[in-house]
Amino acid sequence: MNAQLHTIDQGEGPPVLLVHGFPMDHTMWRFQIESLAASHRVIAPDLRGFGQSPIESISSKIGVAMADYADDLARLLDKLAVEEPVTLVGFSMGGYISWQFYKRHRQRLRAMIQCDTKAAADTPQARETRFKMAEHVEGWGAAHVATLMVPKLLAPSTLQGNTKLVEEIGGMISRTDPVAIAAAQRGMAHREDSTPLLESLDLPVLYVVGQDDQISTTSEMQTMADATPDGRLVTIPNAGHLSPIENPTAVTAAMEEFLASLSS
Ligand code: MLT
Repeated sequence: MNAQLHTIDQGEGPPVLLVHGFPMDHTMWRFQIESLAASHRVIAPDLRGFGQSPIESISSKIGVAMADYADDLARLLDKLAVEEPVTLVGFSMGGYISWQFYKRHRQRLRAMIQCDTKAAADTPQARETRFKMAEHVEGWGAAHVATLMVPKLLAPSTLQGNTKLVEEIGGMISRTDPVAIAAAQRGMAHREDSTPLLESLDLPVLYVVGQDDQISTTSEMQTMADATPDGRLVTIPNAGHLSPIENPTAVTAAMEEFLASLSS
């Protein structure tokens, strides 16, 4: 498919490509876009079928592989004439896509930031849960997916103390096309185990995790950082899985420090 992705392209400087999670869109990065664009060219697309990007060429029955999303991103960089290697920032599903981007487009990368994500493939049980959602989401509607997911995405303190954010995340998920949800669930269910890749990563990798992340835990991400030759982990306080939104100041600071270290 041609990469007709709705994209924010803001600022000047070394390029940073921000890849959102499931089932979200580029607006999950709004705090980071604003800060990083002061010193970097920040590119933040909506993945195929998500946000304002078109849904046409997606089959909910076949799904979209993580490699297909990664190739969309490479085509997007071509279209935007980005020749300089990018720092690729992947959040959760965006991180699964980033492993594939590394395998398929290594020459386009300067460094990686992996936020609240995993290297491992799904357990059989997690795979079954994804297939169930893929099968039923068109009947359920995306609002039901929001009800299922929001409690797992946010830290208890956010759920109890930040009604505005809880509603905002629920709204973003509810607006997602069920076809895109089903297709991504099938793609994630079929994704391979990227754990063997970690020891061969030949570029700097910053791992970022919310201290209360229930989906990609701090210990899981510490193991990933330990396995990566030039890997380091930053744990974000007062945040769950959605650390870039729950504690944007801390996540942006960690990213800025890492990006500055690349140019020194
Ligand atoms: C995400 O935030 O992208 C999802 O939690 C990823 C997943 O379902 O594994």
